[in-house]
Amino acid sequence: MELRGLLAALAALAVLSEQVPSAFAAQGPALWPMPLSVQMTSSLLYLSPENFHITHDPSSKAGPSCALLQEAFRRYYDYIFGFRKWRHHPIKSHGKTDLQQLLVSVVLDSECEMFPNISSDESYTLLVKGPVAFLKANRVWGVLRGLETFSQLIYHDPYGAFIINESTISDSPRFPHRGILIDTARHYLPVKAILKTLDAMAFNKFNVLHWHIVDDQSFPYQSITFPELSNKGSYSWSHVYTPNEVRMVIEYARLWGIRVIPEFDTPGHTQSWGKGQKDLLTPCYSPHHPAAFGPINPILNTTYSFLSKFFKEISSVFPDWFIHLGGDEVEFACWESNPDIQNFMKQAGYGKDFRKLQSFYIQKLLDIISTLKKGSIVWQEVFDEQAKLQQGTVVQVWKQERYTNELNAVTASGFPVILSAPWYLDWISYGQDWIKYYEAEPLDFPGSQEQKQLVLGGEACLWGEYVDATNLTPRLWPRASAVGERLWSQKEIRNIDDAYKRLTVHRCRMVRRGIAAEPLFTGYCEM
Ligand SMILES: *[C@@H]1O[C@H](CO)[C@@H](O)[C@H](O)[C@H]1NC(C)=O
Ligand SMILES: *[C@@H]1O[C@H](CO)[C@@H](O)[C@H](O)[C@H]1NC(C)=O
Ligand SMILES: *[C@@H]1O[C@H](CO)[C@@H](O)[C@H](O)[C@H]1NC(C)=O
Repeated sequence: MELRGLLAALAALAVLSEQVPSAFAAQGPALWPMPLSVQMTSSLLYLSPENFHITHDPSSKAGPSCALLQEAFRRYYDYIFGFRKWRHHPIKSHGKTDLQQLLVSVVLDSECEMFPNISSDESYTLLVKGPVAFLKANRVWGVLRGLETFSQLIYHDPYGAFIINESTISDSPRFPHRGILIDTARHYLPVKAILKTLDAMAFNKFNVLHWHIVDDQSFPYQSITFPELSNKGSYSWSHVYTPNEVRMVIEYARLWGIRVIPEFDTPGHTQSWGKGQKDLLTPCYSPHHPAAFGPINPILNTTYSFLSKFFKEISSVFPDWFIHLGGDEVEFACWESNPDIQNFMKQAGYGKDFRKLQSFYIQKLLDIISTLKKGSIVWQEVFDEQAKLQQGTVVQVWKQERYTNELNAVTASGFPVILSAPWYLDWISYGQDWIKYYEAEPLDFPGSQEQKQLVLGGEACLWGEYVDATNLTPRLWPRASAVGERLWSQKEIRNIDDAYKRLTVHRCRMVRRGIAAEPLFTGYCEM
């Protein structure tokens, strides 16, 4: 209350002396990620929270029954006006006393859709002109992206009024797959932290949550078919995601136009699976091998009947077309030590080439997934080790060294690719490493135009060895924002000074919206 009075007095004083205290300096709009085309004029509209409405245009095909849009209208009203309600009363003498009423009319050319997918249309146009601003989109997904941009256009004049420049924006993403990888196995992340991450993703126009849900360390996914997996494999009874909680994450993501792609990484990274599923893992015989069990046992029929049942459940729980099957970092020492596997290798004529055994496993798994009418994503090793992939299998490139060669090789073989190699956000260092993420360019690799078209996009990965709910958000944001702009905006948008200015304001906007994003450098946020 004290502060409020003081600020009002200061503002009044500023009017009297015709000077603007620097704390109130008008900040222009800071758009992040930069839209495809922006034309801004110098005519200003003033908004007032009482007279501001976002509504369906009567010509829209999706009406008020579209819960996804109603929910979005409500949220964006709060983001726009929520945090400075106390300053919304116009200070009379700022010379522009009549705040105009602005209506945002949403014109949508299609019915409300249920779930987004890889080919969802996220384009939109914004025509901001008094008294009605029009947001036009072909699909609900474009409306969501356009509302975010509209909210970013609004700033404050020196007296605290809400203002927006009349402008015309047309926009669509450069890449259709713009993801964030979270890891809930090295550390459990409470559902609340995941939902918060989804909010921040939407503020940066990300559209895929890659949920690396289980790994060696723990199995928090509560399976309906195989409850023992999490009963025995989770860190504790409370470190699990129940079917209801998984549904909640998927639904919350949907409302933001975000797809949830689960990763169940096999045959390596599976120590936690072995606790609740007998005979799934390979017994190791080597006296030098530290663990009693190795990767999933690829030579038993029971392995594949288990996997069929397990992934049948996964394919019905997660609505997205894609399931991530992992396939990275398989260690062969345990397989090598096992006499039954040695025998199998001999009969199959694999010699000592354990990559062939890994490929044998992966191919059987890929068959299971395609029988379930789903698509697969795999880590790059699966491609490198020459497993026979099915058409349309997506390869995710993660190894930093010579990743441009890998992009070339994968796309030359005709497979779609997702890039993560330059965007491992779990690697931290002193200074502004967002610049390094920002400068990585997904299409800078040798290859034809057709090859480049196979680049679906990329993902910023935050592996969880050193991350739990205490540091998840500041480690992700705004560092991942750099990747967000790289994947949404045009290739030519790469000026670091300009990006720094916009990102600084965008970071403060995230903070105001409840995202504990860390600072880029020295300075302060206007609250
Ligand atoms: C917005 O309008 C103000 C006031 O007319 C003007 O000074 C400013 O340059 C405009 N911003 C842009 C980006 O055109
Ligand atoms: C994506 O969703 C739309 C609308 O539901 C559908 O028409 C289209 O076939 C889907 N595309 C893919 C690749 O699944
Ligand atoms: C495993 O399945 C294969 C193919 O269906 C079959 O030929 C083989 O006999 C089975 N092995 C065992 C041990 O059941």
